[in-house]
This record gives sequence, C-alpha cells and structure tokens, in this order.
Amino acid sequence: MPFKTVRGDITDFECDAIVNAANDSLLGGGGVDGAIHRAAGPGLLEECRTLGGCRTGEAKITGGYMLPCRFVIHTVGPVWDGTGQSRRELASCYVKSLELAEKNGCKSVAFPLISSGAYGCPFDVAYEIAVSTITEYLSNSDGNVVVTLVLYGKEPDRLRDLFPELKSRLYPPKKLLSKSRNAYSAGNGLFSAAKLSRKDADICFGSVMQEASLDECASTGYRDLDMRLEHLDESFADMLFRKIDEKSMSDVQCYKKANLDRKLFSKIRSDRLYRPSKTTALALAVALELGMEETGELLLKAGYALNDSSRFDIIVKYFIEKGIYDIYEINGALFAFDQKLLGGC
Ligand code: APR
Repeated sequence: MPFKTVRGDITDFECDAIVNAANDSLLGGGGVDGAIHRAAGPGLLEECRTLGGCRTGEAKITGGYMLPCRFVIHTVGPVWDGTGQSRRELASCYVKSLELAEKNGCKSVAFPLISSGAYGCPFDVAYEIAVSTITEYLSNSDGNVVVTLVLYGKEPDRLRDLFPELKSRLYPPKKLLSKSRNAYSAGNGLFSAAKLSRKDADICFGSVMQEASLDECASTGYRDLDMRLEHLDESFADMLFRKIDEKSMSDVQCYKKANLDRKLFSKIRSDRLYRPSKTTALALAVALELGMEETGELLLKAGYALNDSSRFDIIVKYFIEKGIYDIYEINGALFAFDQKLLGGC
C-alpha cells in the first residue's frame, strides 16, 4: 500500500527515513523535533550543526543514529498564516522531503503532520495538504516509495470531525436508534411488495442488493439476469480486467488509483483464479468507480459481500453511494473510525 495513515510515535517507526518538523536552525526544539533529537541521541545534533540551517519549505538529510531508521530528513514548515504562500511552503516540505528520500534510495518514509503543532496550521488543513501533496507525488513517481503519515496522541480522533455525516451514521444518537428500530420492523413488508422472496432475490441477484432495489428487480423482470448469467463463470480477475478494458484504463492507472503496489497487481494479472483480500477487491472497485451493484458483483467473485454488518462496510458503501471514489478520502474516514484501510494488505 503506497500511502497509509497510522497512529503512533514517529520515533518508534521502523522505515528508511523519518521526517522531522524542524525549525530553520535545525538545532532541535520541542514537539516532534524534540522527540526525534532525544531518541536519536547527541550524534544527530552534532551532524545538524554542520548543515548551516534550512529554509522554510526546504529539506536536509542526516543519519538516523539511535533511531530505528537510516535517515532523518529535516524540513521546516511555515508558521501558519493561512496565505497561499503558507500552503505552497507546507506542500513543498513534503515534496522536497520525498525527493531527498528517493535521491538517497529510500523505499519507505514516515511523516508527522508538519506545521500542525507549534506552527499553528489547523489540523484539517494540515491533513488535507499532507494527503493531497503526498498522493499526487506518488501518482507521478515510479520510485515505488511507501509513505506513512504518523498521527500522534489524540490527533487521529480529530479526523472523525472531518466526516460528520458518517460519524452520525456510525454512532447515531441513542434516541434516533430506538426510533429507527421501530421504523425498520414496520418496514419489512418491502419484500412481499416486490413479490420476490428474499431468498429468490439473493439467489438471482446476489445478497448485496439494496432492499430498495428489490422493487426494481421485480418491475424489470430480471432485466439484467441474462447478462449476469453470461458472466457467471467469470473469475474475479476476469471481471476486473474486463472492467479495466471497458473503462479504457491502463493497469498502472488502475493500481495507482487503488493504492496498490505493482507486485500485488501483477499477481492478479498472472493468475485468473487469484483471490484478493476484501480490502484489495474493494480498492479495485473504487479505482474502477463501480456502482453499488457492480461492486457487489466484483466482491462476490472474490467471495465477499458488502452489507451493513460492519462499520467498515457502512463507510465504504457511504462513499460509493455518494459517488466519491477518492481512495485516500475513503481511507481517511476508515482510519478515523479505526477500520482497516483499502489497498493491498
Ligand atoms: N510522533 C509523531 N508526531 C508527533 C510526535 C511524535 N513523537 N510529537 C509531536 N507530534 C506531532 C504533533 O502532534 C503535531 O501534530 O507533530 C506535529 C507537528 O507539531 P510540532 O512538533 O509542534 O511541529 P510544527 O507545528 O511543525 O512546529 C515546528 O516546533 O518543535 C518545534 O523546533 C520545532 O520550531 C519548530 C516548531
């Protein structure tokens, strides 16, 4: 998975390079800067003394010393003032750090949320700039670098506030819960109205059909049943590559949009009976921008279903129903509500 967000302390993070949110002297400070210097030991400061400081938006590299990483990349975020220049400087911190990491042969890089502490950038703005800059860099790079954004302490909980509608759907207020329970028990006459038993509908259309569409199925008289029968023997990989062709996408476009690495995708390409994980299958459905029905169909071919049985399913369905196929936005929500992320794993 080329990009993911995790909770944790960046000084414990094992990877090729961690990025430090430093100040322009590069001689240490508080926050993550202080934590990295403490964990690295005195050797880091000695080397930093030789660097002659660093300008805002730029980055410099040192050894990792006693940290579990080969390098520390020091970058200086802007003291946030909300201007376009601050945005550009903050984005430049991520780009320059990634360029320096690739130049030094790094295959894995971890970032803190730069400028979101002492430098005052609002959490949601800092997060949006970090994710959009990193993912844009990765979509244009062939370096196969894996990037992790490490959110510290209580920061991850603040991500939930970025998805208020989801939050209320996943954690409905108690009074709403009892009201909807009563409504649901009164509403299950839907199946009889559609003159289809639930069992028949599941057999014909897969158990991922939304209840509301049972009426459509009845009225269209199994309109697309023939098409489904035609693709009945299709494997997951067959359907995946048929949809890639139908969408005139390339393999590279598809796996990058799915936040998958090349290796995993070539496994699917080379074995038509390959069974992906549910998160991989869904990541590919999102990359292909499939609607609910085709997503359900693709999932079924991998042996999975999407229903309201888990917060993970509810979150993914929420974005597909809204036609939002930005996998990093979906992963931001999955991470915010402590769920597995979409992509290869
Ligand atoms: N691991 C990961 N992230 C951390 C850690 C840690 N151990 N400690 C703090 N953070 C997070 C903070 O929660 C914040 O979200 O790093 C983010 C950046 O906060 P700061 O460290 O305050 O950095 P910044 O806002 O860029 O300000 C830089 O602060 O520490 C001084 O010398 C530094 O002058 C510079 C200024």
